[in-house]
Amino acid sequence: MTARTVLANPLVAVAIVRPGEAAGVRDFHRSLPGYAPTPLVDAPLLAERLGVASVHVKDESSRLGLPSFKILGAAWATFRALAERGAGAPAGLDELREQLSGAGLTLVAATDGNHGRAVARMAALLGQSAHILVPRDMVPARIAAIRDEGAEVTVVDGTYDEAVAASGRLADATHVVVSDTSWDGYVDVPGWVIDGYRTIVEEVLEQLADAGLPAPTVVVAQMGVGAFATAMIRGFAPHGARIIGAEPTEAACVLESLRAGALVHLDGDIDSIMAGLNCGTPSPLAWPDLVAGLHDVAAVTDADAEDAMRALAEVGVVSGESGAAGLAALLAHGPALGLTEHDRVLVVSTEGATDQHAYDRIVPAELRESR
Ligand SMILES: Cc1ncc(COP(=O)(O)O)c(C=O)c1O
Repeated sequence: MTARTVLANPLVAVAIVRPGEAAGVRDFHRSLPGYAPTPLVDAPLLAERLGVASVHVKDESSRLGLPSFKILGAAWATFRALAERGAGAPAGLDELREQLSGAGLTLVAATDGNHGRAVARMAALLGQSAHILVPRDMVPARIAAIRDEGAEVTVVDGTYDEAVAASGRLADATHVVVSDTSWDGYVDVPGWVIDGYRTIVEEVLEQLADAGLPAPTVVVAQMGVGAFATAMIRGFAPHGARIIGAEPTEAACVLESLRAGALVHLDGDIDSIMAGLNCGTPSPLAWPDLVAGLHDVAAVTDADAEDAMRALAEVGVVSGESGAAGLAALLAHGPALGLTEHDRVLVVSTEGATDQHAYDRIVPAELRESR
Protein backbone atom coordinates (compact mmCIF):
# COMPACT_ATOMS: atom_id res chain seq x y z
CA MET A 1 0.00 0.00 0.00
CA THR A 2 1.35 3.37 -1.02
CA ALA A 3 0.82 6.42 1.20
CA ARG A 4 -1.74 9.03 0.15
CA THR A 5 0.95 11.12 -1.46
CA VAL A 6 2.33 12.88 -4.53
CA LEU A 7 5.51 11.87 -6.30
CA ALA A 8 7.12 14.47 -8.56
CA ASN A 9 8.61 12.52 -11.45
CA PRO A 10 12.32 13.31 -11.49
CA LEU A 11 12.69 11.87 -14.98
CA VAL A 12 10.08 13.93 -16.83
CA ALA A 13 11.40 15.03 -20.21
CA VAL A 14 8.51 15.95 -22.42
CA ALA A 15 10.75 16.52 -25.41
CA ILE A 16 11.14 12.78 -25.94
CA VAL A 17 7.45 11.92 -25.77
CA ARG A 18 6.63 9.66 -28.70
CA PRO A 19 3.94 10.92 -31.06
CA GLY A 20 2.05 7.64 -31.54
CA GLU A 21 -0.09 7.03 -34.58
CA ALA A 22 -3.36 8.87 -34.55
CA ALA A 23 -3.85 8.87 -38.34
CA GLY A 24 -7.10 7.24 -39.43
CA VAL A 25 -8.35 6.61 -35.92
CA ARG A 26 -10.83 9.47 -35.72
CA ASP A 27 -12.32 8.69 -39.15
CA PHE A 28 -12.74 5.06 -38.07
CA HIS A 29 -14.55 6.08 -34.88
CA ARG A 30 -16.75 8.47 -36.86
CA SER A 31 -17.85 5.51 -39.00
CA LEU A 32 -19.07 3.49 -35.98
CA PRO A 33 -22.79 3.30 -35.25
CA GLY A 34 -23.79 5.96 -32.72
CA TYR A 35 -20.55 7.96 -32.82
CA ALA A 36 -20.78 11.48 -31.43
CA PRO A 37 -18.21 13.54 -29.55
CA THR A 38 -18.81 13.27 -25.80
CA PRO A 39 -19.64 16.47 -23.88
CA LEU A 40 -16.95 18.80 -22.56
CA VAL A 41 -18.43 20.42 -19.46
CA ASP A 42 -17.21 23.81 -18.23
CA ALA A 43 -17.18 23.52 -14.43
CA PRO A 44 -16.54 26.90 -12.73
CA LEU A 45 -17.58 25.40 -9.38
CA LEU A 46 -14.65 22.98 -9.55
CA ALA A 47 -12.31 25.75 -10.77
CA GLU A 48 -13.21 27.74 -7.68
CA ARG A 49 -12.60 24.78 -5.38
CA LEU A 50 -9.20 24.14 -6.95
CA GLY A 51 -8.19 27.81 -7.21
CA VAL A 52 -7.50 27.55 -10.95
CA ALA A 53 -8.65 29.58 -13.98
CA SER A 54 -10.92 26.88 -15.37
CA VAL A 55 -11.83 23.20 -15.18
CA HIS A 56 -13.31 21.35 -18.13
CA VAL A 57 -14.64 17.83 -17.63
CA LYS A 58 -14.72 15.47 -20.60
CA ASP A 59 -17.69 13.26 -19.79
CA GLU A 60 -17.19 9.67 -21.02
CA SER A 61 -20.26 8.24 -19.28
CA SER A 62 -21.83 7.45 -22.64
CA ARG A 63 -19.43 6.58 -25.43
CA LEU A 64 -20.65 4.64 -28.45
CA GLY A 65 -23.45 3.19 -26.36
CA LEU A 66 -21.24 2.04 -23.46
CA PRO A 67 -20.59 3.71 -20.10
CA SER A 68 -16.83 4.29 -20.48
CA PHE A 69 -14.19 5.57 -22.90
CA LYS A 70 -12.68 2.11 -23.30
CA ILE A 71 -14.56 1.23 -26.49
CA LEU A 72 -12.39 3.79 -28.32
CA GLY A 73 -9.27 1.67 -27.79
CA ALA A 74 -10.97 -1.72 -28.00
CA ALA A 75 -12.71 -0.83 -31.27
CA TRP A 76 -9.61 0.41 -33.07
CA ALA A 77 -7.42 -2.41 -31.77
CA THR A 78 -9.98 -5.06 -32.71
CA PHE A 79 -10.39 -3.56 -36.16
CA ARG A 80 -6.64 -3.48 -36.78
CA ALA A 81 -6.05 -6.96 -35.37
CA LEU A 82 -8.88 -8.59 -37.31
CA ALA A 83 -8.30 -6.66 -40.53
CA GLU A 84 -5.14 -8.70 -40.85
CA ARG A 85 -7.22 -11.90 -40.77
CA GLY A 86 -9.78 -10.81 -43.36
CA ALA A 87 -9.61 -11.01 -47.14
CA GLY A 88 -7.90 -7.65 -47.71
CA ALA A 89 -7.88 -4.15 -46.29
CA PRO A 90 -11.48 -3.51 -45.16
CA ALA A 91 -12.73 0.06 -45.47
CA GLY A 92 -14.70 -0.15 -42.23
CA LEU A 93 -16.52 -2.32 -39.76
CA ASP A 94 -19.27 -3.47 -42.18
CA GLU A 95 -16.77 -4.69 -44.73
CA LEU A 96 -14.74 -6.43 -42.03
CA ARG A 97 -17.86 -8.20 -40.74
CA GLU A 98 -18.55 -9.54 -44.24
CA GLN A 99 -14.95 -10.66 -44.67
CA LEU A 100 -15.05 -12.50 -41.34
CA SER A 101 -18.38 -14.20 -41.93
CA GLY A 102 -18.00 -17.85 -40.88
CA ALA A 103 -14.47 -17.29 -39.51
CA GLY A 104 -15.49 -18.57 -36.07
CA LEU A 105 -13.13 -16.30 -34.17
CA THR A 106 -13.19 -15.64 -30.43
CA LEU A 107 -11.92 -12.33 -29.05
CA VAL A 108 -10.18 -12.86 -25.71
CA ALA A 109 -9.50 -10.17 -23.12
CA ALA A 110 -8.76 -9.82 -19.43
CA THR A 111 -10.49 -6.94 -17.74
CA ASP A 112 -11.39 -5.26 -14.52
CA GLY A 113 -14.60 -4.17 -16.18
CA ASN A 114 -14.74 -1.65 -18.96
CA HIS A 115 -12.21 -2.96 -21.48
CA GLY A 116 -13.70 -6.46 -21.50
CA ARG A 117 -17.20 -5.15 -21.97
CA ALA A 118 -15.99 -3.08 -24.92
CA VAL A 119 -14.21 -6.06 -26.50
CA ALA A 120 -17.37 -8.15 -26.06
CA ARG A 121 -19.37 -5.42 -27.82
CA MET A 122 -16.89 -5.42 -30.73
CA ALA A 123 -17.12 -9.21 -31.08
CA ALA A 124 -20.92 -8.95 -31.27
CA LEU A 125 -20.74 -6.15 -33.86
CA LEU A 126 -18.44 -8.31 -35.99
CA GLY A 127 -20.49 -11.51 -35.66
CA GLN A 128 -17.75 -13.27 -33.67
CA SER A 129 -17.55 -14.64 -30.10
CA ALA A 130 -15.91 -13.23 -26.99
CA HIS A 131 -14.31 -14.85 -23.95
CA ILE A 132 -13.60 -12.37 -21.15
CA LEU A 133 -11.50 -13.19 -18.07
CA VAL A 134 -12.09 -11.25 -14.87
CA PRO A 135 -10.39 -11.21 -11.45
CA ARG A 136 -12.12 -12.90 -8.52
CA ASP A 137 -13.09 -9.63 -6.80
CA MET A 138 -15.13 -8.28 -9.72
CA VAL A 139 -18.56 -7.07 -8.56
CA PRO A 140 -21.53 -9.03 -9.99
CA ALA A 141 -23.01 -5.96 -11.74
CA ARG A 142 -19.91 -5.58 -13.91
CA ILE A 143 -19.79 -9.31 -14.72
CA ALA A 144 -23.47 -9.24 -15.69
CA ALA A 145 -22.86 -6.25 -17.98
CA ILE A 146 -20.19 -8.21 -19.89
CA ARG A 147 -22.40 -11.32 -20.16
CA ASP A 148 -25.20 -9.10 -21.47
CA GLU A 149 -22.95 -8.29 -24.42
CA GLY A 150 -23.12 -12.01 -25.29
CA ALA A 151 -19.65 -12.93 -24.00
CA GLU A 152 -18.54 -16.00 -22.07
CA VAL A 153 -17.07 -14.76 -18.77
CA THR A 154 -14.54 -16.73 -16.72
CA VAL A 155 -13.77 -15.62 -13.19
CA VAL A 156 -10.07 -16.31 -12.64
CA ASP A 157 -9.12 -17.26 -9.10
CA GLY A 158 -6.69 -14.37 -8.76
CA THR A 159 -5.98 -10.71 -9.42
CA TYR A 160 -6.35 -8.67 -12.60
CA ASP A 161 -2.68 -9.36 -13.39
CA GLU A 162 -3.33 -13.09 -13.11
CA ALA A 163 -6.35 -12.74 -15.42
CA VAL A 164 -4.09 -10.98 -17.95
CA ALA A 165 -1.58 -13.84 -17.81
CA ALA A 166 -4.39 -16.40 -18.26
CA SER A 167 -5.79 -14.51 -21.25
CA GLY A 168 -2.42 -14.55 -22.99
CA ARG A 169 -2.27 -18.35 -22.70
CA LEU A 170 -5.53 -18.70 -24.67
CA ALA A 171 -4.11 -17.26 -27.92
CA ASP A 172 -4.28 -19.68 -30.87
CA ALA A 173 -5.41 -19.79 -34.50
CA THR A 174 -9.01 -18.84 -33.68
CA HIS A 175 -8.58 -17.01 -30.36
CA VAL A 176 -7.44 -13.42 -30.84
CA VAL A 177 -6.26 -11.67 -27.68
CA VAL A 178 -7.27 -7.99 -27.56
CA SER A 179 -5.43 -6.74 -24.47
CA ASP A 180 -5.00 -3.15 -23.35
CA THR A 181 -1.76 -4.07 -21.61
CA SER A 182 1.40 -5.42 -23.20
CA TRP A 183 3.95 -8.11 -22.46
CA ASP A 184 7.08 -9.53 -24.00
CA GLY A 185 6.34 -10.09 -27.68
CA TYR A 186 2.80 -8.69 -27.47
CA VAL A 187 2.79 -4.98 -28.28
CA ASP A 188 0.89 -4.33 -31.52
CA VAL A 189 -2.63 -4.66 -30.13
CA PRO A 190 -1.99 -2.63 -26.93
CA GLY A 191 -0.32 -0.01 -29.14
CA TRP A 192 -3.50 0.28 -31.20
CA VAL A 193 -5.52 0.56 -27.98
CA ILE A 194 -3.45 3.62 -27.01
CA ASP A 195 -3.87 5.09 -30.50
CA GLY A 196 -7.64 4.59 -30.19
CA TYR A 197 -7.84 6.76 -27.07
CA ARG A 198 -6.42 9.72 -29.05
CA THR A 199 -9.90 10.52 -30.32
CA ILE A 200 -10.56 12.02 -26.87
CA VAL A 201 -7.63 14.41 -27.35
CA GLU A 202 -8.79 15.48 -30.79
CA GLU A 203 -12.34 16.06 -29.62
CA VAL A 204 -11.22 18.12 -26.60
CA LEU A 205 -8.90 20.33 -28.66
CA GLU A 206 -11.71 20.90 -31.18
CA GLN A 207 -14.29 21.62 -28.49
CA LEU A 208 -11.98 24.11 -26.76
CA ALA A 209 -11.10 25.79 -30.05
CA ASP A 210 -14.81 26.07 -30.94
CA ALA A 211 -15.27 27.92 -27.64
CA GLY A 212 -12.30 30.17 -28.46
CA LEU A 213 -10.15 28.54 -25.76
CA PRO A 214 -6.54 27.31 -25.91
CA ALA A 215 -5.28 23.84 -24.97
CA PRO A 216 -5.27 22.95 -21.26
CA THR A 217 -2.19 23.65 -19.14
CA VAL A 218 -2.87 20.67 -16.83
CA VAL A 219 -4.37 17.29 -17.73
CA VAL A 220 -5.04 14.68 -15.07
CA ALA A 221 -5.20 11.03 -16.11
CA GLN A 222 -6.24 8.14 -13.88
CA MET A 223 -4.06 5.07 -14.40
CA GLY A 224 -4.52 1.35 -14.36
CA VAL A 225 -1.86 -0.06 -16.70
CA GLY A 226 -1.13 3.45 -18.02
CA ALA A 227 -2.41 3.16 -21.60
CA PHE A 228 -4.94 5.96 -21.21
CA ALA A 229 -2.36 8.26 -19.59
CA THR A 230 0.01 7.52 -22.45
CA ALA A 231 -2.58 8.69 -24.96
CA MET A 232 -3.10 11.88 -22.94
CA ILE A 233 0.67 12.44 -22.77
CA ARG A 234 1.14 11.91 -26.50
CA GLY A 235 -1.79 14.15 -27.33
CA PHE A 236 -1.51 17.00 -24.83
CA ALA A 237 2.18 17.26 -23.85
CA PRO A 238 3.13 18.64 -27.28
CA HIS A 239 0.66 21.47 -26.55
CA GLY A 240 2.61 22.31 -23.40
CA ALA A 241 0.27 20.64 -20.88
CA ARG A 242 1.59 19.22 -17.62
CA ILE A 243 0.25 15.66 -17.26
CA ILE A 244 -0.58 14.38 -13.78
CA GLY A 245 -1.25 10.69 -13.17
CA ALA A 246 -3.66 9.43 -10.51
CA GLU A 247 -3.72 5.97 -8.93
CA PRO A 248 -5.39 4.27 -5.96
CA THR A 249 -3.09 3.99 -2.93
CA GLU A 250 -3.66 0.22 -3.17
CA ALA A 251 -2.60 -0.01 -6.82
CA ALA A 252 0.02 2.70 -7.28
CA CYS A 253 2.17 0.61 -9.59
CA VAL A 254 3.26 3.54 -11.78
CA LEU A 255 4.16 5.68 -8.75
CA GLU A 256 6.16 2.84 -7.21
CA SER A 257 7.85 2.12 -10.56
CA LEU A 258 8.88 5.77 -10.96
CA ARG A 259 10.17 5.74 -7.41
CA ALA A 260 12.18 2.56 -8.10
CA GLY A 261 13.34 3.75 -11.53
CA ALA A 262 12.12 0.49 -13.11
CA LEU A 263 8.90 -1.44 -13.59
CA VAL A 264 7.51 -2.71 -10.30
CA HIS A 265 4.98 -5.53 -9.89
CA LEU A 266 2.70 -5.14 -6.87
CA ASP A 267 1.88 -8.48 -5.24
CA GLY A 268 -1.19 -9.58 -3.36
CA ASP A 269 -4.85 -8.65 -3.53
CA ILE A 270 -5.70 -5.20 -4.82
CA ASP A 271 -9.29 -4.28 -4.13
CA SER A 272 -9.79 -0.53 -4.22
CA ILE A 273 -13.29 0.54 -5.24
CA MET A 274 -11.62 2.09 -8.32
CA ALA A 275 -11.97 -1.27 -10.06
CA GLY A 276 -10.67 -0.13 -13.44
CA LEU A 277 -7.43 1.00 -11.82
CA ASN A 278 -6.76 -2.15 -9.77
CA CYS A 279 -3.66 -3.11 -11.75
CA GLY A 280 -0.41 -4.27 -10.17
CA THR A 281 1.84 -3.77 -13.20
CA PRO A 282 2.18 -0.87 -15.66
CA SER A 283 2.10 -1.81 -19.33
CA PRO A 284 5.73 -2.15 -20.48
CA LEU A 285 4.71 -0.50 -23.76
CA ALA A 286 3.39 2.56 -21.92
CA TRP A 287 6.30 2.78 -19.50
CA PRO A 288 8.73 4.91 -21.59
CA ASP A 289 5.95 7.44 -22.26
CA LEU A 290 4.94 7.53 -18.60
CA VAL A 291 8.56 8.12 -17.55
CA ALA A 292 9.02 10.88 -20.12
CA GLY A 293 5.61 12.48 -19.88
CA LEU A 294 4.22 12.37 -16.34
CA HIS A 295 5.06 15.41 -14.23
CA ASP A 296 3.58 13.99 -11.04
CA VAL A 297 1.70 10.94 -9.84
CA ALA A 298 -0.80 11.24 -7.00
CA ALA A 299 -2.08 8.31 -4.95
CA VAL A 300 -5.68 8.62 -3.73
CA THR A 301 -7.87 6.67 -1.34
CA ASP A 302 -11.33 5.22 -1.90
CA ALA A 303 -12.72 8.06 0.22
CA ASP A 304 -11.05 10.59 -2.10
CA ALA A 305 -12.68 8.90 -5.10
CA GLU A 306 -16.09 9.00 -3.43
CA ASP A 307 -15.66 12.75 -2.68
CA ALA A 308 -14.78 13.36 -6.31
CA MET A 309 -17.83 11.38 -7.51
CA ARG A 310 -20.01 13.71 -5.46
CA ALA A 311 -18.13 16.80 -6.70
CA LEU A 312 -18.69 15.68 -10.29
CA ALA A 313 -22.36 14.98 -9.62
CA GLU A 314 -22.64 18.58 -8.40
CA VAL A 315 -21.56 19.83 -11.82
CA GLY A 316 -23.91 17.43 -13.58
CA VAL A 317 -21.45 14.65 -14.48
CA VAL A 318 -22.21 11.04 -13.54
CA SER A 319 -18.84 9.51 -12.75
CA GLY A 320 -17.96 6.06 -11.43
CA GLU A 321 -15.20 5.29 -8.94
CA SER A 322 -12.41 4.98 -11.53
CA GLY A 323 -13.84 7.79 -13.61
CA ALA A 324 -13.55 10.23 -10.72
CA ALA A 325 -10.00 9.29 -9.66
CA GLY A 326 -8.33 12.10 -11.63
CA LEU A 327 -10.40 14.80 -10.01
CA ALA A 328 -9.88 13.01 -6.68
CA ALA A 329 -6.13 13.56 -7.08
CA LEU A 330 -6.60 17.29 -7.70
CA LEU A 331 -9.02 17.76 -4.81
CA ALA A 332 -6.87 15.77 -2.41
CA HIS A 333 -3.46 17.07 -3.46
CA GLY A 334 -4.02 20.40 -5.29
CA PRO A 335 -1.41 22.47 -3.40
CA ALA A 336 1.22 19.70 -3.58
CA LEU A 337 0.58 19.49 -7.33
CA GLY A 338 1.38 23.18 -7.72
CA LEU A 339 -1.90 24.19 -9.36
CA THR A 340 -2.11 27.96 -9.86
CA GLU A 341 -4.79 30.52 -10.62
CA HIS A 342 -3.51 30.56 -14.22
CA ASP A 343 -4.05 26.85 -14.85
CA ARG A 344 -6.69 25.63 -17.29
CA VAL A 345 -7.37 22.10 -16.15
CA LEU A 346 -8.77 19.15 -18.08
CA VAL A 347 -10.33 16.30 -16.12
CA VAL A 348 -11.51 13.22 -18.02
CA SER A 349 -14.33 11.45 -16.28
CA THR A 350 -13.58 8.11 -17.92
CA GLU A 351 -16.70 6.20 -16.91
CA GLY A 352 -20.28 6.65 -15.77
CA ALA A 353 -22.06 4.65 -13.08
CA THR A 354 -20.69 1.23 -14.04
CA ASP A 355 -21.91 -0.16 -10.68
CA GLN A 356 -25.25 1.60 -10.22
CA HIS A 357 -25.84 0.15 -6.78
CA ALA A 358 -22.55 1.56 -5.48
CA TYR A 359 -23.16 4.87 -7.25
CA ASP A 360 -26.52 5.29 -5.55
CA ARG A 361 -24.91 4.54 -2.18
CA ILE A 362 -22.05 7.01 -2.66
CA VAL A 363 -23.85 9.92 -4.33
CA PRO A 364 -26.86 11.22 -2.38
CA ALA A 365 -30.19 11.41 -4.17
CA GLU A 366 -30.31 15.21 -4.08
CA LEU A 367 -27.02 15.38 -6.04
CA ARG A 368 -28.21 12.71 -8.47
CA GLU A 369 -31.35 14.72 -9.06
CA SER A 370 -29.40 17.93 -9.72
CA ARG A 371 -28.60 16.61 -13.21
C1 LIG B 1 -12.88 4.00 -16.11
C2 LIG B 1 -11.43 3.79 -16.33
N1 LIG B 1 -10.61 4.86 -16.26
C3 LIG B 1 -9.29 4.74 -16.43
C4 LIG B 1 -8.73 3.49 -16.69
C5 LIG B 1 -7.23 3.41 -16.82
O1 LIG B 1 -6.79 3.04 -18.08
P1 LIG B 1 -5.40 2.30 -18.23
O2 LIG B 1 -5.57 0.90 -17.72
O3 LIG B 1 -5.12 2.38 -19.68
O4 LIG B 1 -4.42 3.04 -17.41
C6 LIG B 1 -9.54 2.37 -16.79
C7 LIG B 1 -8.99 1.05 -17.08
O5 LIG B 1 -9.66 0.05 -17.14
C8 LIG B 1 -10.92 2.52 -16.61
O6 LIG B 1 -11.76 1.48 -16.67
